[in-house]
Amino acid sequence: MVMDVVPVALGARSYEVRIGPGLLQRAGAEIAPLLRRKRVAVVTDETVAAHHLAALEAALAAEGIAMTSLALPPGEGTKGWPEFARTVEWLLDQKVERRDVVVAFGGGVIGDLVGFAAAVLRRGVRFVQIPTTLLSQVDSSVGGKTGINTPQGKNLVGAFHQPALVLADTLVLESLPARDFLAGYGEVVKYGLLGDAAFFDWLEVNGPDLARDAVKRQYAVRRSVEMKAEIVARDETEEGDRALLNLGHTFCHALEKATGFGDRLLHGEGVAIGCALAFELSQRLGLCSQEAPSRVRAHLRAMGMKVDLADIPGDLPDAAALLALMGQDKKVVDGQLRFILARGIGAAFVAADVPSDKVLALLDDAMRGR
Ligand code: GLY
Repeated sequence: MVMDVVPVALGARSYEVRIGPGLLQRAGAEIAPLLRRKRVAVVTDETVAAHHLAALEAALAAEGIAMTSLALPPGEGTKGWPEFARTVEWLLDQKVERRDVVVAFGGGVIGDLVGFAAAVLRRGVRFVQIPTTLLSQVDSSVGGKTGINTPQGKNLVGAFHQPALVLADTLVLESLPARDFLAGYGEVVKYGLLGDAAFFDWLEVNGPDLARDAVKRQYAVRRSVEMKAEIVARDETEEGDRALLNLGHTFCHALEKATGFGDRLLHGEGVAIGCALAFELSQRLGLCSQEAPSRVRAHLRAMGMKVDLADIPGDLPDAAALLALMGQDKKVVDGQLRFILARGIGAAFVAADVPSDKVLALLDDAMRGR
């Protein structure tokens, strides 16, 4: 197995993201050096448990590591107070101590919830992320953002708590439904768009092969993680540059709210549509040429992804209501909408002063296309 190792340089809280096919089978050997006693508590969801928990248990047992596990219901609905409380109490019942390690084994919901549980359990225990979706491998498992949703909104309660290790098994991605894989690709393409034009060029050629070509897939995960690690090392708590990772997300969060955070629009699909809108807005503001949004849209179309508001099934609120939903975003600072805009592909920047009438006009036109 050829494994890539991407360091996340955060001083005493530095860690590695290890990426490669078959890492799940090596999980015991990878985790063992972190352990003071040979036992871990694993939290997963029922879908991941059905597919992969036996493999993880065997990999841990091969190193003499005992495992207890909790499988939560799959889906975004799990990421709230009730399952969070259940998880924390289960970890206490397992007698997890300050020096023990908790394992988050699943997609973004599990990573965020379990990371937050680890952050508050006994005032903080170490945790290992074993992300099982493309989205969680390239984004949510790296960088230490943890948390849950509340009735007031998504990810409004949480903590920065960095994992001690991330193990991204790129083979596991082969069992993902095609739609979930493509949704995760929305975050991959985001990295090219925000900061690496050459990576976007590469994705234009190779993106369609990622689902079946293991070598290309591993490269795409590695390059995405390298970019995220570099940004997180510069700005761990999002005082500045980390906001670049939110390219497309202001539009996305409004669309997710409007569609009820469900099956109508997956997060990564919303990110892709949001990226297309962010480039269109940048062009309308005279920041980049028409070529940039045209290329973004053409690539997303070539991948078979959602690109336009017309691709979202069912009704949407009007442009003014969508704009109002953006106003509730976490990225509002002093009441001003912060957008990530771009001077071209691979050249994104944080803009604090975007005129809301321009955003309204863009959304109005986008709604007219429906
Ligand atoms: N997903 C955005 C971030 O980690 O900052």
